[in-house]
Amino acid sequence: MTVKIFDTPEVQDFLTTVAGFDQDGGSERAKQIMHRLLSDLFRLMDDYDVSAEEFWSAVSVLNALGNGTQFGLLAPGLGFDHYLDMRMDAADRERGLLGGTPRTIEGPLYVAGAPEAEGFARMDDGKDQDGETMWLTGQVRDVDGHPVAGAKVEIWHANSKGGYSFFDPTQSEYNLRRSIFTDAEGRYTARSIIPSGYGCPPDSPTQQVLDLLGRHGQRPAHIHYFISAPGHKHLTTQINLAGDPYTFDDFAFATREELVVPANRIEDPAEIARRELDGPFSEVVFDIELAKTDAPELQVRHARPRAKEDEQDRHSQLAGTAKV
Ligand SMILES: [Fe+2]
Repeated sequence: MTVKIFDTPEVQDFLTTVAGFDQDGGSERAKQIMHRLLSDLFRLMDDYDVSAEEFWSAVSVLNALGNGTQFGLLAPGLGFDHYLDMRMDAADRERGLLGGTPRTIEGPLYVAGAPEAEGFARMDDGKDQDGETMWLTGQVRDVDGHPVAGAKVEIWHANSKGGYSFFDPTQSEYNLRRSIFTDAEGRYTARSIIPSGYGCPPDSPTQQVLDLLGRHGQRPAHIHYFISAPGHKHLTTQINLAGDPYTFDDFAFATREELVVPANRIEDPAEIARRELDGPFSEVVFDIELAKTDAPELQVRHARPRAKEDEQDRHSQLAGTAKV
């Protein structure tokens, strides 16, 4: 049995009432967006003959996602984060704001307030015995090739098990999270450990949704960046390490060709000694080009609830409860 009731006056009137169009209070934009969203969903229910059983099982998944603060994990899996990037890229092109290292998704696991350093920082606490030493370095330049001194390079990444400090309570505070200001030549350097890729928890509601799509929930090994400097466009990006089985098959759609970087293993004793390390290590070089802009709002990261971003903000506090 297939019923089609969406176009009836009764349903259309009902949608107007549900969206609050006949009420004075509330937000006009919220009403319009909710009306469109509900209209699209109601039509979908007609078109796909969605049963009550299917509807309530979807509600159950939404409840589980909310309970685990996992919408921030499912969102990139369903392409929303990448779609926002595509829209911001298009907006940049429209403004004539061209060039520079490409942006890619932030993900839900940034934590504000990491320790700051000038030029160099050690990011790991030395406790991850399985972590290969990583020497992560690069130069920040503008699109004309001039070094940008004093740029703020915020870096965060997972440990050898794919876990992030703060969200993984077994790690020390701000482990594998640092803010490094570039030196006079625009260079930054971090001693850390090679991160592992990771996957959505297998029993999570996020993975439950991906299973229905026949998709995996794996990410390649990657390193997150925020880069900012006065007079330049703020950049949110990340690098994927080359050679990971998921480098070009990232469930979160963050990979961009220009952002795939090799980790080169170095065993030369002279190079090891020069960095004051104990043994062989892997070097990752990521140079960053920043586009120029005078617009102050483009020089800072866009607002979003983030862990520890704002102690007064309920949404930021909630962002810190993600169980991923
Ligand atoms: Fe990540």
